[in-house]
Amino acid sequence: MTTSPSLNDLRLQFAQAGQEHVFRFWEELSVSDQSKLLERASGIDLDEVNALVAEHIQGDVQDHDGFDNLEPAPYIALPEHGGDRVAWDAATECGEEALRAGRVAAFTVAGGQGTRLGYDGPKGTFPVTPVTEKTLFQVFAEKIARTAERYGKAIHWYILTSEINNDATVAAFAENAYFGLQKDEVHFIVQGLVPAVDREGKILLSDKSTITMTPDGHGGSLRALVRSGATAQMKALGIDCISYFQVDNPLVPCLDPAFVGFHLLGNSECSSKMIPKAYALEKVGHFCMQDGKMVVIEYSDLPAEKQQETLADGGLRFNAGSVAIHVFDRDFIDRVGGTGAEVKLPFHRADKKIPFVNAAGELIQPDGPNGVKFEMFVFDALPLAANPVIIEGARAENFSPVKNAEGVDSPKTCNEDQLRQFATWLKAAGVEIAGDDSGLPEVCFEISPRFAADQADFVSQWAGMDPKPEIADGVIIMG
Ligand code: UD1
Repeated sequence: MTTSPSLNDLRLQFAQAGQEHVFRFWEELSVSDQSKLLERASGIDLDEVNALVAEHIQGDVQDHDGFDNLEPAPYIALPEHGGDRVAWDAATECGEEALRAGRVAAFTVAGGQGTRLGYDGPKGTFPVTPVTEKTLFQVFAEKIARTAERYGKAIHWYILTSEINNDATVAAFAENAYFGLQKDEVHFIVQGLVPAVDREGKILLSDKSTITMTPDGHGGSLRALVRSGATAQMKALGIDCISYFQVDNPLVPCLDPAFVGFHLLGNSECSSKMIPKAYALEKVGHFCMQDGKMVVIEYSDLPAEKQQETLADGGLRFNAGSVAIHVFDRDFIDRVGGTGAEVKLPFHRADKKIPFVNAAGELIQPDGPNGVKFEMFVFDALPLAANPVIIEGARAENFSPVKNAEGVDSPKTCNEDQLRQFATWLKAAGVEIAGDDSGLPEVCFEISPRFAADQADFVSQWAGMDPKPEIADGVIIMG
């Protein structure tokens, strides 16, 4: 049996935190299970757990101060919706300059489990494109490679994984030769974990030697970038803009020059893209102003009446949907994600059904929520940031996530949205193809992201293509 001082110290620390039960089965455990428990327990930040329990379990923390003083957040509209074309052109130029200077990195959060989709592997390995069934990771990799080629500068790609999917994610990249990217320009960062607790604040065990840990949310990505040394590496590489997007959205322009430009020209520490909501109760976050700060209020928190409120012209008052596309300033990430940072992202409480081992060592499968998980949300960085900027994005060019197996935001809707986007790009290049009223083409074809990363890129690439392919079922435009 291990009786090292470190065990005794640790047991004492857990006892002082009211969590001594974590070691209650110690004597029964095998040596390997003991060392597993010891390793896990020693990695837990008990000060953080104490603070979370004091705040969210014993205290009465509300996620929000109420919604009476909520106002819609201002944003920079697209030129076709009244925005200033000259300002958009200047922003594009500024962003392109930053890309040419190698100041911009891509950052994908892919630590989630994709439970709703019912897919087993890392979500990034889910096939999405209509003809060749490229995976989400491959689509992003090709967009990044094309953008790097276009601006003549390497682009580093940081990917947030979790303990659960990191090995499978790294293996998928290795098996696919990093999808054409340089291995040393792709960086995997494993996000942090936080213990789950019961409703009295006691840490849960999923078996006698295993503390139940859950990922610290995509908000944990900021501190993971700092802890892993990624922000220090970025500094050494001359990168100061981090283009953030979610793994579930193949339509996202991974490195949008205009967005980067508005971020830089606005001296913003954290910028976000909004898209007008498709309908009042769409399940997206809402950009709002509260007490002079820019905030995102989740659809699950914002009362339905607010979500449905209309303006005199009939438009939705809270119309700015958050699609989780941001640009971060590197120093800002260091400021809010550093150890002992003065300003930190708050944790949110989520009550969940969590199987656990009781004091008698029996595994209990609860009927209803019995436990609490803690997660940080990345958009809580907005109110902490200086000069936050929000720009409008067109839905068709930015957002069609794969979240559910069927219905909205499913592989089928995403597939169709990709086809609509390809048809729009062709139309912008002067090629009309037959389709229905929603813009869905009759033929199933594909534009390779390696050929063109966005519409402007496609138009110029297509112009230089000779001969040009006839658009028909199964055609892949790839130069
Ligand atoms: C999220 C946003 C919502 C936004 C919508 C757009 C939240 C709470 N809500 O909703 O405002 O309108 O996306 O699609 O985020 N992830 C991690 N680690 C974690 C948890 C999540 O990396 O610990 C990653 C996932 O891999 C995924 C992304 O974060 O890429 C979003 O997570 P998900 O739980 O799917 O968020 P949604 O509820 O869909």
